[in-house]
Amino acid sequence: ANDGYDLWLQYNYIQNTDLQSEYNTLINGIQPIGDSETIKVAEKELLLGLSKMLGNDTQLYLGNESGNNLLYFGSESNLDKKILSQLKKECAQIQKDGFVIKQIQVDNKNHIVITGKTDIGVLYGVFRLLRELQTHKSIKGINIVDSPKVDVRMLNHWDNLDRTVERGYAGFSLWDWHRLPDYIDSRYVDYARANASIGINGTALTNVNANALILTPQYLEKVKALAAVFRPYGLKVYLTARFSAPIEIGGLKTADPLDPEVKQWWREKTAEIYKSIPDFGGYLVKANSEGQPGPQNYGRNHVDGANMLADAVAPFGGIVMWRAFVYSEHDPTDRAKQAYSEFVPYDGQFRDNVLIQVKNGAIDFQPREPFHPMFGAMPKTPLMMEFQITQEYLGFSTHLVYLPKLYEEVFEADTYRRGKGSTVAKVIDGSLHNKKITGVAGVTNIGNDRNWTGHHFLQANWYGFGRLAWNPHLDSKDIAEEWIRMTFSNNDNFVEQIKKMMNDSRETVVNYMNPYGLHHIFDTGHHYGPGPWVGNLPRPEWNPTYYHKADENGIGFNRTKTGSNAIAQYAPEVAAMYNNISTTPEKDLLWFHHVSWNHKLKNGMTLWDGMALKYQQGVDEVETMINTWNSMESLVDQQRFKEVQMLLNIQLKEAKWWRDACLLYFQQFSKKELPEGVEKAS
Ligand code: GCU
Repeated sequence: ANDGYDLWLQYNYIQNTDLQSEYNTLINGIQPIGDSETIKVAEKELLLGLSKMLGNDTQLYLGNESGNNLLYFGSESNLDKKILSQLKKECAQIQKDGFVIKQIQVDNKNHIVITGKTDIGVLYGVFRLLRELQTHKSIKGINIVDSPKVDVRMLNHWDNLDRTVERGYAGFSLWDWHRLPDYIDSRYVDYARANASIGINGTALTNVNANALILTPQYLEKVKALAAVFRPYGLKVYLTARFSAPIEIGGLKTADPLDPEVKQWWREKTAEIYKSIPDFGGYLVKANSEGQPGPQNYGRNHVDGANMLADAVAPFGGIVMWRAFVYSEHDPTDRAKQAYSEFVPYDGQFRDNVLIQVKNGAIDFQPREPFHPMFGAMPKTPLMMEFQITQEYLGFSTHLVYLPKLYEEVFEADTYRRGKGSTVAKVIDGSLHNKKITGVAGVTNIGNDRNWTGHHFLQANWYGFGRLAWNPHLDSKDIAEEWIRMTFSNNDNFVEQIKKMMNDSRETVVNYMNPYGLHHIFDTGHHYGPGPWVGNLPRPEWNPTYYHKADENGIGFNRTKTGSNAIAQYAPEVAAMYNNISTTPEKDLLWFHHVSWNHKLKNGMTLWDGMALKYQQGVDEVETMINTWNSMESLVDQQRFKEVQMLLNIQLKEAKWWRDACLLYFQQFSKKELPEGVEKAS
């Protein structure tokens, strides 16, 4: 049985005899250099991985029998001069926590060396070498040089102190606050290993809808214990800061960011945190959004709030991630416009250690959104990407959707802020405007389910998020392939078919939920199933009817010049493209235009027919996924096979539910028959 607990760190025994002998020859022993905690965990991981994959006793790797074919691993500054002299060129190419893995010859002996500027870089290199073995790559003459392109690569846990997880669908929170700090669940270590293996270097432990209690000494002691477990793995701890904490736990009368006592309170609180957690990362803040307190409660603005916290963490090298997810009922015309209008005018006024954390789209983690217009629009302010890994609007942990495909689409989008080729990836990696600090955050899909993510395939979203945070220019297909090989099998047929299945899965969910740019037509509150008919909620911008605006004439949100003019927030080239229905990509059609039911699509069909067929296509594609999966049974362990199979069957039922509900509802307006090929609701 395989319950999926080991994630992509399965380290399956390598059956291929050629590779076995190659690996066994080239790695005859391991030689740690340095004695930091990080080097120790790197050694432990190597012993685990090598002994499992090569079927040997771990002792074998520690005995330095012939002194030939050793695997050296340690940071540059600790390497022997003779060894280092052979790595000069490669070492000059790495930055930050990057690494080099190279086969070299010293005194007529062959060795492989893993090195970096830091021990954390070395650990990343160790995981990379293990991955080469896991994915059955030859390591003869290995020479890999790699560095992260982004500084802060972090998970955001929306975990509450009572262990419920907001928008979490894989059980309860991993953090057992009740038994911390004295009881250290071994799972914390495995969590850190998994993150380090993909280069994730930060974790915000608590919900953005924050509870000030986390900042009390009773909880900080627990946070300190977690930080100690994560430290050797290069994983820094961050906390969400409730803006009104000075009132709630500090006994002050106000939380006004310009009040001297409030500033003092945050300075002292922050110093207290750093005293027990010297490498504390900093604060993540949701302010003046969805009822959360913030500087605007005191007539101040985002700059006042963010800078006040930034000043508190600055002496310790900390950062503040201030979220741009703000909207309110005050702008009734278009919620999509608010973040841009509240933040862009302040470009250049934030402290150097403030990152503005922006969701990938302007509404809220929909199956598809055009990129957020803030990207590229604040040349003087570091903008951090916020993706959702948990599937709030994508079928929870029940539907198989490979999200790196979505992340890639966002990263590849062109902002045109410095002419053609000004992609979101370049905004985020800092190269477009020379940013001093860069970051990517993902709202995790992790809980205490045995398999971590509730669905075996959704582990790939955690994995792929980490890989893209490391390098936003990677190809999502390659990432899927790595993950499949490590997690399931190196069988070529399996890899090809499952890769295709994963790769197509994102478009499939768009097809059966939100084709042609439809968005936010989910049922209220839980956001699981369809609810396009909902129109009676107290706040207009919570109603699906506000977003699809279906009527006899057509469907869609007019965000062009004749509508909300949200397009004006993009660079002129992009605005012009979206303003014109004929140049708007059809995947975003109803996001930007109110379109007649008879509008001719590029394929010659009417919008109504095309839409109906997209819903049907989504259903058909889930059927294809099921067939693919069923044909792979002999190549997968029974437990994971069955669990995935059951979930795919639910997904099929629910794809039909989406199709039927949406088409029946919209048909009242279109007053048209379903085209041939679309199954009627039963
Ligand atoms: C969504 C989500 C909330 C979450 C919010 C946020 O609106 O439904 O649960 O708190 O995003 O990102 O702050």
